[in-house]
Amino acid sequence: MENTMLQQRKQCRLVLFPLPFQGHINPMIQLANILHSKGFSISIVHTRFNSPDPFKHPHFTFHFISDGLTSDVRDKPLDPVLIIKQLNNNCAEPFRQCLNELLSDGKENNVKCIITDTNWYCAQEVADSLKLPRIVLRTSSICAFLAFAALPRIREKGYLSNPEPNIEEPIVELPHLKVKDIPTIDISKLEDLYQLVGDFVESSKKAFGLIFNTFKELEEHDLEKLSEQFLMPIFTIGPFHKHFSAGRSSLLTQDRSCISWLDTQAPKSVLYVSFGSVATMNQEKLYEMAWGLADSKQPFLWVVRPGLVHGLDQWLESLPNELLESINERGYVIKWAPQQEVLSHPAVGGFWTHNGWNSTLESVCEGVPMISSPFFGDQKVNARYVNDVWRIGIRLEKGFKREEIEKAIRRLMVDKEGEDMRQRIMCLKEKADLCLNVGGSSYRSLEGLVDFISSL
Ligand code: UDX
Repeated sequence: MENTMLQQRKQCRLVLFPLPFQGHINPMIQLANILHSKGFSISIVHTRFNSPDPFKHPHFTFHFISDGLTSDVRDKPLDPVLIIKQLNNNCAEPFRQCLNELLSDGKENNVKCIITDTNWYCAQEVADSLKLPRIVLRTSSICAFLAFAALPRIREKGYLSNPEPNIEEPIVELPHLKVKDIPTIDISKLEDLYQLVGDFVESSKKAFGLIFNTFKELEEHDLEKLSEQFLMPIFTIGPFHKHFSAGRSSLLTQDRSCISWLDTQAPKSVLYVSFGSVATMNQEKLYEMAWGLADSKQPFLWVVRPGLVHGLDQWLESLPNELLESINERGYVIKWAPQQEVLSHPAVGGFWTHNGWNSTLESVCEGVPMISSPFFGDQKVNARYVNDVWRIGIRLEKGFKREEIEKAIRRLMVDKEGEDMRQRIMCLKEKADLCLNVGGSSYRSLEGLVDFISSL
């Protein structure tokens, strides 16, 4: 019976369209693998910019479209709002043409639906014009999505209109959040953000369904609120990486030498430090980080991604010798890590993170408590939830000050407070494990999604 259904689904092709950034490509490719394991045939449409390696995913067909990004946008420090807007402007027609070709191609004529990242708001009009159902994948948390969806009300209430807003003021419309947690990107370009968010929220409301990489037990209350605002089927089928690791869709080469180094460290003694694929900082912050890490006297594994520090052509060579020596005493520094493997290593006891959603969820699933330094957007909301709602981490409230960093590391890695957080996050880890088991919430939601797609 199951085999017949798998055979039938093989005739159904799903076209997936990820936003071309690491934190969005990983969950979309994971979703592709999950749906492929349920029998569906998968086509991935991708921009040439940041394209994953098709040879690593031979079970999918890849179709590359032109993104028209000019080098001044591509190579500058990332302006997420500008680049997402340009991608939508430039890719709508190539995406339509690509789908048209797929629909008229004898081999791929059974396209059931398209699944796109929320940020591809242009895709709704394309889907409508071709009479294809569109399902949306939101790669971030529900709590952050609700905060984005509330931006028009936040704007109306004027929380951010004062040139010097009170950043500690609570947001009445979003319990738990303060003004400093509003998911802004660049405060000097608020109008652009309002427009982008308006576009992706409105286009999501027209979609056939919404998929989230989260699980019900983690965001139950916000899931209820979401269902009141978005009146379509919502599927919480995460954590995706528990089905398929993100390693194969990594755009950078993962340095596995750190695993042998971790093997030499005591259980739960190492702080893992990484700020994901897009955050950037200035040299002063890098110095404060380095001093804070060295002064904490705890072992650490530090990812310094090329491009993390803007304006710096070298890697760590610019740090004073005295500091480099201090780092080398207890630390191991690499350019890109096999993050999931690192987080699941017994030696890792804490994660200093920017709280990108993939990193946050990967940490929850391994029971590793966090220190939070959000940079922009959804990271700010995730960090507040980590600190105040789930109480599984410490948010660095005053930015990058070496004394504060040192104190936070000791609170997390040495003090009883950190141990309490570890216990709380272990409870969430257990819930994450259970939700994927037969009969668990994500298991059932995935079954619902498969039935839903099959019925389209
Ligand atoms: C971006 C946004 O910044 C983030 O806020 C949003 O939630 C998703 O898109 P990014 O900043 O890259 O993502 O962070 P994150 O969501 O944490 O994703 C990073 C991914 O890269 C994770 O899957 C992580 O496992 C992987 N990674 C990170 C590595 O494989 N190696 C590393 O050294 C660091």
